[in-house]
This record gives sequence, structure tokens and C-alpha cells, in this order.
Amino acid sequence: MTVREMSGASLVLGIESSCDEMAAAVVRDGREVLGSTVRGQAAVHGPYGGVVPELASRDHVRVVSQVVAAALAEAGVAERELTGVAVTAGPGLLGSLLVGLSFAKAYAYRLGVPVVGVHHLAGHLAAAEIADAALVPPYLGLVVSGGHTALYRVEADARPHVLGETRDDAVGEAFDKVAKLLGLPYPGGPALAKLAERGDAAAFAFPRPMADEPGYDFSYSGLKTAVALAADKHPERAADLAASFEAAATDVLVAKARRAARDEGLARVAVVGGVAANARLRRELATAARRDGFALFLPPLALCTDNAAMIAAAGAQLLARGARDSLALSAFSRVPLSQRPWAEA
Ligand code: KG4
Ligand code: ZN
Repeated sequence: MTVREMSGASLVLGIESSCDEMAAAVVRDGREVLGSTVRGQAAVHGPYGGVVPELASRDHVRVVSQVVAAALAEAGVAERELTGVAVTAGPGLLGSLLVGLSFAKAYAYRLGVPVVGVHHLAGHLAAAEIADAALVPPYLGLVVSGGHTALYRVEADARPHVLGETRDDAVGEAFDKVAKLLGLPYPGGPALAKLAERGDAAAFAFPRPMADEPGYDFSYSGLKTAVALAADKHPERAADLAASFEAAATDVLVAKARRAARDEGLARVAVVGGVAANARLRRELATAARRDGFALFLPPLALCTDNAAMIAAAGAQLLARGARDSLALSAFSRVPLSQRPWAEA
């Protein structure tokens, strides 16, 4: 079932806390975002140059009820109007996940509405669907974030099928690590992209890992090492290093997505996750779409990075299909998108 086939009015509260953002949103009928609040933790983790899991979960505990209240207020929705609660159950940092999950279960119990656990990546894909009604399955989904790099074939009535994924680092993680070694502040991805604007993308011939190998898997740890070696030799050429890295990292994504769309005969391609905010990637994908003739779906930036509207939307689809989870619903740090191991119905 697609979101468009959902019947009956639903008003779902989504909660997302899988990493260093606490987010809440209210979505009507699985598609219309009435209110969406995201509280980041750059100030908490900035001094450490990366996410400190224990600090992330403690901060989530501090802000969860305020963030939910802010989303409801923005939506103009009273708690008793909610018809269900959707919450990210995995994958992610266990401590972080458990904060959102515990809150969601208690909240749903108090309101007497069903709660449903959502896979974080199913949420990212749902973001593209709510951003544009023309995105209907089957389509190719490319998820590019700080924790994930994967290509999926998304079908209407089945769990997404994994075509390929990263064998080591995620592409966003590679952006963040390279940013760190170039001395850029956390969070590094956007800072690196900004520095790259002033650099020459052809200055360093970095490898395009696995670009010419069959299959759709990715690998980013070798590229990161190549940049580290070049940065040791040419520390003064930070902008060129950034631009050359960005080109290598994004070229592989575009090449694999083009090949997968062609091989799988898919006319629609959706790109989601934080790295989908990258301007070079967006530009190269748009060029590829024109050349190859596929329709490209790039959600607005606020829906690309972690948010709870995507979780509410994916959860609304599950609830409309009758999916329910019990109060025994637990968090999973690693779980393939083809499964909802927590699911009871
Ligand atoms: O989806 P997201 O918000 O969180 C995860 O689920 O991981 O993605 C965050 C990732 C980070 O690695 C961040 O550096 C990267 O997305 N990112 C970018 C850009 N904006 C965010 N990477 C490259 N260029 C950008 N403009
Ligand atoms: Zn994410």
C-alpha cells in the first residue's frame, strides 16, 4: 500500500532519537506535515569533534518532552486528537534510541493509542514520498547518511530489497572523518562541502572505490586513507583536497545509482539522508537524470537530514496496515531494512 491509498483520517506523532538529534513531528494522513521540530546537539558534541553516545542520550532525556510539546504546538494539535505514535526502533545508538522509545511507549499508553516501531531507513525513504506525491513504487532509493550508504529497490507491497550497501564506512562518515583530518569543526560534512567550493576537484586523482566492480556495494575507508596520505604531503592545499575528495565520494554514488536504475528498469530515483544535502551530488544526479531519462526525487533539505516527520509518515503507513507493537517494543542498534524484528503484528 502506498501512502496515497491510506484511508481514514490519521494524526500520527513521530519521534526520532537514533543519534544526536531529538525530533518530533505530527503528520496527517501519512503525508501532510503539520508540525516538525528537530533539536540538534552540535553544542554538546562540538568540543569532542564527534558524537559522544552517553552525552547524546543524556541530552535527549533532558529535551524529549519539550520537543514533543513544540511539535504539537506548531501543528496546532491537542494530544487527545492523536491516533497513533510512531518511533524509531533502530538502527542507531542504543542509549539514544531508548530515550525516544521509552517516551513514545509511555505517551501512547497514557493516550490509549497504538504505538509502532519504525526502521530509521524506512523513515528516510518515506521522506521522499511525502515530499513529492509523484514518487510511487517501484523506485530506486539511495540512502546516504552519516550511518548508512545503501541502494534499495522499493516495491509497493514488500519490504525494500537491498541492492547494495557500504562494506565499511558510510559516505557521511567519510565526509566527517576527512573534515576532521583537514581540521574542520564538527559537524564536518557541511563544512567540508563549503571548503570544497573553493578547491579544484581535479587536483588530486583519488580512487573511485568499487566504481567499476559489478554489484552495487560501496566502500569508503580506502578513499579516506588516500586523502589522509595526500593531506600529510600537502597540508596547505585543504580546499583542493576537500574538492577532490568530494568529487570521488559523490562520483561513486552517481555511477552506482545510474547503473542500478538501468539494470533494475526503474524510472524513478529518490535520494535521501543527510548527504543528499550535498550540492555537488545534487547537481551530478540532476545531470544523470537528464541523460538517462529517469525522474529524480530529492527532498528538501529539512526532510533529508534526520527528522521525525519521516518517522511519522512511515509509521502512519504501518498503522494503516494494522501494524501494532506492544509495550515490550525494544531498540535495535543494527537491523537490516528488510526486517522489523521487534514487530509483533
Ligand atoms: O541523515 P543524517 O542527518 O543522519 C544520519 O542518519 O546519519 O546525516 C548526517 C550526515 C553527516 O555525516 C553529515 O556530515 C552529512 O550527513 N552531511 C553532508 C552535508 N550535509 C550533511 N555531507 C556532505 N555534504 C553536505 N552538504
Ligand atoms: Zn538518518
